[in-house]
Amino acid sequence: MATDLRVSLTDRCNLRCTYCMPAEGLDWLPSPTLLTDDEVIRLIGVAVIQLGVTEVRFTGGEPLLRRGLPGIVRAVAALEPRPSTMLTTNGVGLARLAGTLAEAGLDRVNVSLDTIDPARFQTLTRRDRHADVLAGLAASAEAGLVPVKMNAVLLRGVNDDEAVPLLRFALDRGYELRFIEQMPLDAGHTWRREEMVTGEEILARLRESFDLRPDPVLRGGAPAETWLVEGHTAVGGGPARVGVIASVSRPFCGACDRTRLTADGSVRSCLFSQEETDLRGAMRGGATDGELADLWRKAMWAKPAGHGIDDPTFLQPARPMSAIGG
Ligand SMILES: C[S@@+](CC[C@H](N)C(=O)[O-])C[C@H]1O[C@@H](n2cnc3c(N)ncnc32)[C@H](O)[C@@H]1O
Ligand code: SF4
Repeated sequence: MATDLRVSLTDRCNLRCTYCMPAEGLDWLPSPTLLTDDEVIRLIGVAVIQLGVTEVRFTGGEPLLRRGLPGIVRAVAALEPRPSTMLTTNGVGLARLAGTLAEAGLDRVNVSLDTIDPARFQTLTRRDRHADVLAGLAASAEAGLVPVKMNAVLLRGVNDDEAVPLLRFALDRGYELRFIEQMPLDAGHTWRREEMVTGEEILARLRESFDLRPDPVLRGGAPAETWLVEGHTAVGGGPARVGVIASVSRPFCGACDRTRLTADGSVRSCLFSQEETDLRGAMRGGATDGELADLWRKAMWAKPAGHGIDDPTFLQPARPMSAIGG
């Protein structure tokens, strides 16, 4: 069974990254279908206590938009055995919330930032919030949510010249940067394989300015392949690292240990599954924790062997990334 659970807390967002959402937003999930805070906490409890999940990551949409987030984090951090708790966020609003979340029991954050240029940020996200994200990153480090990780997606002709500047930015501040290959998960279905900036290409760019050595630490189920950046030190000592998540060009499906819960209570065994299993209906119909755990296990047996993006028959899932939980 998977040990890494990603929970989408909302499908809504306050940014409109072009590779993720259309300018006008999406048809948001109707509120009666959204799990309540208590329901989210109960299902995470089932995953941790009955299914052996050890790592819970809150995502979305933008998870900071979920008002009950600190309470959810607090309840999850109080589970026995305590899972590690993480948040993937666009960082807008994090300056205000980082301290509260750390105090509630959040262990770490991944902040998405694709550019160090405020004007470009506005083009990419259709919102003028670059300064808020920088403040959110700094506040996370201050609150002890370390190592602060940064996620960046490079788009051809938009920010593909920023591999090196983004890494410099991260190294200077002690953040650990990961590049993510763009995946066919955008609501607008605009992804083109030929246009994707590959992990190989990103590494080649980085190697022009940095000396990268393979990371001796084993990757396990982690999606990022990491490199040590010669001559740079991480916050707290040890070598600085940079990661590349080459989900498309170097899939890691065989080692994937993830399970996903959508904001409306469905389990997905893969970002790219065409199928999902509804737990909300069963839970609201009176299912016991044991019955919910059985449903969840069965959903995971159907985990596909691989995402098959390179297969001519590949079909993009009906839900976009923001609704599945990235
Ligand atoms: C869907 S977002 C949800 C959490 C939060 N709103 C954020 O942006 O971090 C999670 C991550 O997925 C990435 N992402 C979104 N659409 C993507 C795509 N089509 N391909 C690759 N990564 C994508 C984002 O850059 C972000 O790092
Ligand atoms: S990537 Fe994250 S921040 Fe950007 S639109 Fe999607 S959900 Fe929002």
